[in-house]
Amino acid sequence: MLHTAYRPEKEMGLRRIFTDSGHLVRPAVVLIAALGIFLIIRALVIPKAFGQYGHYRPAALMEIRQRPIVYAGQDQCVMCHDDEAKTRAAGKHAHVACEACHGPLASHANDPAAHVPKLPDVANLCRRCHEKDAAKPPGFPQVVTAEHSGGMTCNSCHQPHNPHL
Ligand code: HEC
Ligand code: HEC
Ligand code: HEC
Ligand code: HEC
Repeated sequence: MLHTAYRPEKEMGLRRIFTDSGHLVRPAVVLIAALGIFLIIRALVIPKAFGQYGHYRPAALMEIRQRPIVYAGQDQCVMCHDDEAKTRAAGKHAHVACEACHGPLASHANDPAAHVPKLPDVANLCRRCHEKDAAKPPGFPQVVTAEHSGGMTCNSCHQPHNPHL
């Protein structure tokens, strides 16, 4: 006869709970063991200094600070490329940063002759911001590029630094 068989005479009362308590002890043991393993792995994996000042590792700040700077910032670009800056300031791209289109160019700004940048790939660049997409704010200028451009590159009609020229 099965141990777990239905026994109506014990159905009522606290005794039944203790009779079948094996069901509770086994998952409890598994749970405690899992918790123990979790705590051991956690202690091994989390760096010692974590939480010294807050919910982060203080040394991470130094590591981030030591990464090379890849963006020059457009103040730098404007100092040397006055013409492009003037063209841009007069048009709708006045508030689009140089490096939003040209990519990170700190190395070029530091040594222009040694790191001459490639010009942006217009076929992909304009589409990235202007392709029609229902998720964009309706006020933002968008076109279905394939229909709008008729297969021509965008800069055969728009000057990138001032798109209405
Ligand atoms: C210190 C002056 C200086 C700074 C700062 C500078 N540039 Fe230049 N840039 C130059 C010079 C000089 C050239 C021409 C290099 C050559 O052809 O040998 C050039 C070339 C370029 C070209 C390639 C032009 C072409 O016809 O192929 C692009 C694009 C460009 N710069 C963009 C930028 C952007 C964007 C920034 C800001 C992140 C920037 N530059 C910062 C001096 C500078
Ligand atoms: C909206 C995107 C966009 C922005 C913003 C932008 N550029 Fe350009 N830029 C381009 C594209 C695209 C070309 C290449 C045009 C081509 O292939 O004829 C280019 C070309 C250049 C050139 C090469 C010479 C020329 O005029 O064709 C220089 C230098 C340059 N950009 C500098 C800058 C600087 C400096 C800024 C910020 C003041 C800037 N650009 C902002 C897209 C942009
Ligand atoms: C990084 C995003 C970005 C890229 C890349 C970009 N644009 Fe723009 N563009 C803008 C923003 C922002 C505006 C201004 C929108 C506004 O005034 O509300 C704008 C405005 C315009 C307008 C004027 C629309 C109007 O309202 O009259 C034209 C045309 C245009 N862009 C064409 C281009 C072309 C062509 C390229 C590629 C050379 C390009 N854009 C690349 C962000 C971008
Ligand atoms: C054959 C010429 C031509 C080509 C190629 C072209 N455009 Fe235009 N585009 C125009 C004209 C004309 C207008 C309307 C007048 C204006 O805004 O300058 C316009 C308007 C726009 C506008 C503003 C739309 C609005 O709702 O205000 C955007 C954004 C734009 N173009 C992006 C692009 C992009 C991105 C490309 C490349 C995929 C491109 N254009 C290629 C001629 C062209």
